[in-house]
Amino acid sequence: MSGKPKLVTCGLPYTNGLCHIGHLRTYVPADCYVRYLRRAGEDVLFVCGSDNHGTPIVVSAEESGTTPRALSERYHTHFKETFERMGVLFDHFGMTDNKTNHARTRSIINRLIDRGYVYSEIINQSYCTSCERFLPDRYVEGTCPHCGKHARGDECDQGCGRHLEPGEILEPTCTVCRTKAEIREQEHYFFKLSAFRDYLLEYLKDLKGTLNARNYAIGWVENELRDWCITRTLNWGVRFPGNEELVVYVWVDAPIGYISFTEEWADAHNDDWRRYWCGDGEVTHFIGSDIIYHHCIFWPALLQAAGYGSPHAVVASGMLKVEDQKFSKSRGYVVWANEDYLDVGLPSDYLRYYLLSYTSHTKELNFSWKAFQERVNNELVNTLGNFIYRTIYFAEDKLGGIPDIQPRPEITEEIKKTRALVDDAFRAFDFKIAIDGIMTFAAFGNNYIQKNAPWKLMKTDPAEAEAVIADCLQIVKALALLLEPVIPDSAAKIWAMLGYERPISEYHLDEADTPLSGVTLQKAAPLFTKLDDEKYAVLETTFAGRVEAAKKKQEAHEEKKEMVTIDEFGKMDLRVGRILSAEPIKGSKKLLKIAVDIGSEKRQVVSGIAPFYTPEALIGSQVVMITNLEPATIFGVESRGMILAAGDDAALLLPNREVEPGTKIR
Ligand code: MF3
Ligand code: ZN
Repeated sequence: MSGKPKLVTCGLPYTNGLCHIGHLRTYVPADCYVRYLRRAGEDVLFVCGSDNHGTPIVVSAEESGTTPRALSERYHTHFKETFERMGVLFDHFGMTDNKTNHARTRSIINRLIDRGYVYSEIINQSYCTSCERFLPDRYVEGTCPHCGKHARGDECDQGCGRHLEPGEILEPTCTVCRTKAEIREQEHYFFKLSAFRDYLLEYLKDLKGTLNARNYAIGWVENELRDWCITRTLNWGVRFPGNEELVVYVWVDAPIGYISFTEEWADAHNDDWRRYWCGDGEVTHFIGSDIIYHHCIFWPALLQAAGYGSPHAVVASGMLKVEDQKFSKSRGYVVWANEDYLDVGLPSDYLRYYLLSYTSHTKELNFSWKAFQERVNNELVNTLGNFIYRTIYFAEDKLGGIPDIQPRPEITEEIKKTRALVDDAFRAFDFKIAIDGIMTFAAFGNNYIQKNAPWKLMKTDPAEAEAVIADCLQIVKALALLLEPVIPDSAAKIWAMLGYERPISEYHLDEADTPLSGVTLQKAAPLFTKLDDEKYAVLETTFAGRVEAAKKKQEAHEEKKEMVTIDEFGKMDLRVGRILSAEPIKGSKKLLKIAVDIGSEKRQVVSGIAPFYTPEALIGSQVVMITNLEPATIFGVESRGMILAAGDDAALLLPNREVEPGTKIR
């Protein structure tokens, strides 16, 4: 065991959607990192859990007629099971809505209050008069005050990407009933993030992990650091200790979940969570690059304010594309972990391999079924699988087991060299470089057996054939240990074929160059299966179908968006009127100033019908008019309403029999 206790976490998945390749792009590397550290003999704990609070989950629960708790439990189980199927094995997978996290969050907030880092302020917030409630976060939509794009209440998701504070969004609309929201005052609580500018600049200088996270965060801190509103008007979440009518903002209790889950694990294992959070332990967060701000700025400031230790490293994965298009669930550019992958019988190791080795961890990763097929067939099946199978088959079938010969020094040298390279790369979160190194070593093995051709040597120099196979078996053993973090199921199979009875997860990487002794070689079995063109075609067709369906759904949605509700129609005050007078407007060939009797009053409107009617022809005619149109001044004349007409040459709309002026149209 070396050094400090390490804790590794992954960004917590929200419990209102299924597990997809976007999650896996972060979780698989985190799992690989943890497995690697364990192979290297380190004391490391791996925790995660589901993120249960926040408005989107309340909205989803409302939509599916269930409670946020029940919905969360359902998705919680889903994530837990899916991660296990993918070989992502957490020591503990908790829920942010569980007791421990409520308690830990309240205790931390109380500390912040005691230490003077929380203040209250009356702020303007969107309020929906029809739903009769304040509209936190995603309950409201409108225009971003920074860039003018359409935005969600808490985030400018389609524009500049900024986090939006409550009350900031312009032209707010209630997302539930679509009513224009009004602005009302309410007392909320703020965390003094701005007081941590200097602290953060110092802290970020030494932050480990990937540079994308650190640099992005430094940029933010140098630009603007605004205080954070940490309360919401919602009935779901952790009650705010200073005012029990409010709950804590989800982005406060979610990261605190990292601590609570450590606590829950420690309680169950007779250990002390403080080792990790208040002692000399090292915490490493694996996250997607969309939440760097929360993990590198807000979270360390919060921990510092509350007197906890700060995270050692933040590792942020790059963007994701699916078939060359930006990852998007709504547009169908997604791969669902279960439905599209595991449930069709594809082994988790293939996807793990692809995700880890496709490109550097911080670069954009493109998932394509074609590339997937090629990498599985060329690298896993042809290079790796082939070499291991040939070696074990030959030893078992032709030599009757493991030759009692030490591997040659150049082989041990090659193992040591690879191990050093892989060690540096994994510790630097350069998963691709590590795997390339391992695969180069596998190719070396492949060449070695090919070049030496032990099947020929058997006839000319059987002792030399044995020596070659002893070398190859040593390479296989080293490969199994090096690959365990990447493709754990396959590594376990290799390990079992080599004859080990205890699982590979109990062995240290130091075993890579120690001889295979005391084990009995088992029958060789193929490790990987080719992905043939037929299977590929099925995967490709399923994907294309999903994109097509998403397109149709989007079109249907857009059509629906153009519909108006009966209530919206009812807002228009349409009435029958009678034209009392009409006269041209000076300087305009098209416009007439018209006075209309609408029963309750005489209304003046400006209408562009001069090319089609003389003023005399209009006087006395009945017309249909919208009377509550916002007033406008046209050519200096006030117009309060609009006369309705059909088509380019303005056929006037009339009731088909005389009705009283002012009669409402319904
Ligand atoms: N649920 C959040 C998301 O998917 C991540 C929460 S991570 C934590 O974006 F730090 F808050 F825990
Ligand atoms: Zn914006």
